[in-house]
Amino acid sequence: MKKNTRSAAKKNPVQKEPVSSKGKSVLWAGRLSEKPEAQAFAFQSSINIDKRLVFDDIAGSKAHAAMLGKQGIIPKDSASKIVKELDRIAVEIKSGATLTIDTSSEDIHSFLEAILTERLGDAGKMVHAGRSRNDQVAVDFRLYLKRKVPRLQAELSAATIVLLDIAQLHVTSIMPGYTHLQRAQPVTLGFHLTAWCAALERDFSRFNSALARLDECPLGSGALAGSTLPLDRKATAQNLGFSRPTLNAMDAVADRDFVLELSSVCAITMTHLSRFCEDIVLWASEEFKFIDLAESWSTGSSIMPQKKNPDFAELIRGKSARTVGNLVTLFTLLKGLPYAYNKDLQEDKESLFDSIDTLSVCLRMFAGMMKSAGFNLKRMKASCSGGFLEATDTAEYLVRKGMPFRAAHETAALIVRDCIEAGQKHIADRTIGELKNKSKLFEEDIYKAITPAACVKARDLPGGPAPKEVRRQIKTLRKKLQAR
Ligand code: ARG
Repeated sequence: MKKNTRSAAKKNPVQKEPVSSKGKSVLWAGRLSEKPEAQAFAFQSSINIDKRLVFDDIAGSKAHAAMLGKQGIIPKDSASKIVKELDRIAVEIKSGATLTIDTSSEDIHSFLEAILTERLGDAGKMVHAGRSRNDQVAVDFRLYLKRKVPRLQAELSAATIVLLDIAQLHVTSIMPGYTHLQRAQPVTLGFHLTAWCAALERDFSRFNSALARLDECPLGSGALAGSTLPLDRKATAQNLGFSRPTLNAMDAVADRDFVLELSSVCAITMTHLSRFCEDIVLWASEEFKFIDLAESWSTGSSIMPQKKNPDFAELIRGKSARTVGNLVTLFTLLKGLPYAYNKDLQEDKESLFDSIDTLSVCLRMFAGMMKSAGFNLKRMKASCSGGFLEATDTAEYLVRKGMPFRAAHETAALIVRDCIEAGQKHIADRTIGELKNKSKLFEEDIYKAITPAACVKARDLPGGPAPKEVRRQIKTLRKKLQAR
């Protein structure tokens, strides 16, 4: 008997204070008799990533503790001690002088609970009643995004406003519009930039709808199946500024749709910026020479003395790749996960944080680069001449005079061929006699109808490039960006 007892005791030595490999208290060590292996503990620790959630974790714990006190689950004075101490901890961490986050802890949740317990003793040990780190991390992440995404939207809206302001100045600045990167029809710089802004405004509203969907509080969902304690879920949801508690506890701890959605909106917005930057890189080339990037927003070459490179546009285009990669990471992370919580989910934060950071800095860089850029309006206008960009307008001229469109298209195409054969660069280089030879419908007014400015002005349908219409589009977008 004695022998047996001794060997059992040796196998399961009772540790009074469960500790991590570094001697820190861990939340779950009661079950395990052995200290975690140092490397293994470090491997599964997430504090270097989730320390960003520190103030959200504090907010969540304050709401939870206050509710526990109100519901009589823990003594009222313990609840208020916890709330006060959490406030103090927040101040100390903000100051950085009195308390720093100990990155040898397992995660931000463990770190804060350990500090509370160290300072409050038993009261600190009460805070986790009716809670799991599974609903805790879900609430923290949502709170973080509720704070952070509106700031990202402000940067998005600031970048859009920079573009709208430039667009407004250039509603009559003629430039070629392209399809297949071939000159297609005359448009204006204002119209082109407003096209970009329409895309960015949709991204802005995508953030709004993602925020609206994540506006539910997971607290009270516990590990996966709620709690036997009489938690007041509505109270914590309300206290934290959520519209309502989540519907189903298992869903609440397993769900990372909100991460996918926001990662996707970041990737979509970055894809937009990337396409704009591709235009800019082209426009900055000697071949186009439409844009003159500020020297302070350009770089040189270490070997070629003449170079002025659009590195910032290129890098924004390049960085869009990582946001797409992050989205794929998240989909891959989630697709095979059984319900409910799995430690895999810990990988979700790094990806989304990176996408948010990337988008944030790229929006600021993009706005700065655009604000300081100059445009070569002469060159843009000249590029509208010589490529027969007025051919569609010529066909539509004939349609207005009664010709079926297919016949008008063919007539205009034949005129273009005649011009090319004769070494002429514009349809207007043909005499009225030559034009009438192709169709009796041509009259002198054709020459006025097909100048680049006339082509643009006549395209005044809603959505078109006519200056008046683009001014209306700009106004609409400005209004939409204000209405949040
Ligand atoms: N660090 C963890 C995460 O980010 C917190 C949740 C841990 N939950 C657990 N059951 N181990 O997901």
